[in-house]
Amino acid sequence: MSIVAVVGNKGGTGKTTLSLNLAAGLCRRDTVIIVDADPQQSAYQWRLIGDETNGLPSVVAAAQGLEKTVDALRAAHAHVVIDCPPSIKAPQTEHALRIADYALIPVQPSPMDLWATAHIARVVERLRPENPGLRALIVMSQIEPRTTLSRLMPEAAAELDLPVADAGLRRRSIHRHCVLEGRTVFQAGRRGEAAAAEIEALIAEMFDHD
Ligand SMILES: Nc1ncnc2c1ncn2[C@@H]1O[C@H](COP(=O)(O)OP(=O)(O)OP(=O)(O)O)[C@@H](O)[C@H]1O
Ligand SMILES: [Mg+2]
Repeated sequence: MSIVAVVGNKGGTGKTTLSLNLAAGLCRRDTVIIVDADPQQSAYQWRLIGDETNGLPSVVAAAQGLEKTVDALRAAHAHVVIDCPPSIKAPQTEHALRIADYALIPVQPSPMDLWATAHIARVVERLRPENPGLRALIVMSQIEPRTTLSRLMPEAAAELDLPVADAGLRRRSIHRHCVLEGRTVFQAGRRGEAAAAEIEALIAEMFDHD
């Protein structure tokens, strides 16, 4: 089983979008549950919208007592995806990083967003003795390929202390539509195909190495 914490030190980078879609992508292979550790409860709200249940993982709200909640869920699920609040200082983020196998850090193509990841790298290193197996990975999020900034980002990100996933997520309006409908890009048919392929590529990069 794996615990994937989706973390960040800035608001609106795409943590919840990545959590929902990653979980939906993993759900096609295995049993998955989303733990919403953000007091804003966006993932939990998303699950209340829409009536679709096929291919959508359940969401458990756990802004309090995160470790206990995850402990209770781990036996019955192959993957637990934890959507964290937008601060590395939030206790939920630190708890998630203590127990996670993976920390995914979505970062928008902006230098300020990249610099904000330096704090995350420091916390990951501080927690390393407690969680030596934690693999932290920056995921480029909301990429706009035609902009210079997006093109320069991989080079700038290479200077950071954290590895950057080869798979990145482009800015695609289908993501916003899907949230409104309580779905993910995996339920959006052909309109969601390109976005779903990006999520699949990330899943393959994380889990398909042997
Ligand atoms: N790849 C994408 N393409 C287009 N829109 C996106 C993408 N990723 C996220 N968004 C949109 O950007 C906004 C912020 O995304 P999201 O809520 O996932 O970020 P967050 O990091 O969880 O925010 P918060 O810090 O408030 O929890 C939302 O409106 C979402 O629909
Ligand atoms: Mg969020």
